[in-house]
Amino acid sequence: MAERSAIPWEDFQLPVFRQWAKNWLLLCAGDFNDGKYNMMTVGWGSFGVIWGKPFAMILVRPQRFTMPLLEKYPTFTLSAFPADKKDALSFCGSKSGREYADKAAAAGLTAIPSQQVGAPGFAEAELIFECNKIYDAEVLKKSGFIPPFTAEEWYPQNDYHRVIYGEITGIYGTPEYRASAR
Ligand SMILES: Cc1cc2nc3c(=O)[nH]c(=O)nc-3n(C[C@H](O)[C@H](O)[C@H](O)COP(=O)(O)O)c2cc1C
Repeated sequence: MAERSAIPWEDFQLPVFRQWAKNWLLLCAGDFNDGKYNMMTVGWGSFGVIWGKPFAMILVRPQRFTMPLLEKYPTFTLSAFPADKKDALSFCGSKSGREYADKAAAAGLTAIPSQQVGAPGFAEAELIFECNKIYDAEVLKKSGFIPPFTAEEWYPQNDYHRVIYGEITGIYGTPEYRASAR
């Protein structure tokens, strides 16, 4: 099991583009104590600062099984895993929680209670962001894309992503995620 400790957001470091695009993150929405949660792999999103708060922004298509849980519950987590868990992320990115009584177990992952939010994290994660939803930007609009850029190839079914911002209320990671002073 990975040894994680709390890292203040000002002292946190992550190669963000590599993480989103190549290594991915596991989004988990719902509530551990209610026994109602679901997880899915995400490869699009961002981290930054807005309204004086550190945030994680996620983009989720409406048809995901995770979506109603994301709507109903106030928190979510994003977890990063060591390379040997890539298969689990591929699983969670291709199989739906609709098909599994326990999607985490089917992926070989162990859901655990979070420190500050209802949505669970994962024992095998080396990094967990705990997030409290603060802004729902609703779905991306076709009219928002500025020509000549168009994202039409991504939306043949008009299933535009929902954009949700969460305040990062805690970051728990292994020591390599702690920035050295500079
Ligand atoms: C590498 C990768 C990245 C993905 N990124 C996203 C994403 O950012 N947003 C999204 O809605 N779906 C994304 N998906 C697809 C979902 O993870 C996938 O549809 C999943 O099976 C949904 O699970 P659910 O139905 O249990 O919610 C991604 C899949 C993979 C493999």
